[in-house]
Amino acid sequence: ASGKSTTAKGVSEKLGITHLDTGAMYRAVTWEIIEFDIDVSDKNIVEKYLSTVKMYFDSSNDIFINGRNVFKKIRKSKISSKVSEISAIPKIRKKMVEIQRDIGSRGDCVLEGRDIGTVVFPNADFKFFIIASDEARANRRLDDLIKVGDKNPGDFKIVLEELILRDHKDSTRDHSPLKKADDALEIDTTHLSIYE
Ligand code: DC
Repeated sequence: ASGKSTTAKGVSEKLGITHLDTGAMYRAVTWEIIEFDIDVSDKNIVEKYLSTVKMYFDSSNDIFINGRNVFKKIRKSKISSKVSEISAIPKIRKKMVEIQRDIGSRGDCVLEGRDIGTVVFPNADFKFFIIASDEARANRRLDDLIKVGDKNPGDFKIVLEELILRDHKDSTRDHSPLKKADDALEIDTTHLSIYE
């Protein structure tokens, strides 16, 4: 909720190039893991599951995993509270990074995600690290939850706490933590409009 998806989408539309929301990919995998009750503590099961994963984006950038459109389902709070745990699993990251590099190397692309400038494409031409205050992000997250029809979006305080906890988990994990690349330009969107 720093504004990175909105910005990435806007920039990609303006430039007429692909937009890849890598957070949606981790969310889609998390959705399937919950839906099919996959035991992520068992490495063999995770490996077997990953070998079946087929993911693609359609022309309106809806995300499909194994044939299902999960675009709306993956924004719900149930997924947000589990996605950090799932995205910290190295085998899952490896598979997602493979797909991201494949899509990103087919042509010009705006990729958004926590490890794009540091791990996935460290030689990217332009890198931006987008931040916003916790309060601004919690407000935006609440609006997003309402938009996707989440019946239990929770109140501001809970959304704020979950967001801070998720940041902490994403920034302190062993593999590819959320981190600004040394050569990224930092943009604070707290008081910026989308256009700005
Ligand atoms: O940007 P988002 O909130 O949709 O991302 C959801 C989660 O996916 C986030 O908590 C961490 C994970 N993620 C990641 O580990 N690496 C990425 N490149 C993108 C997202």
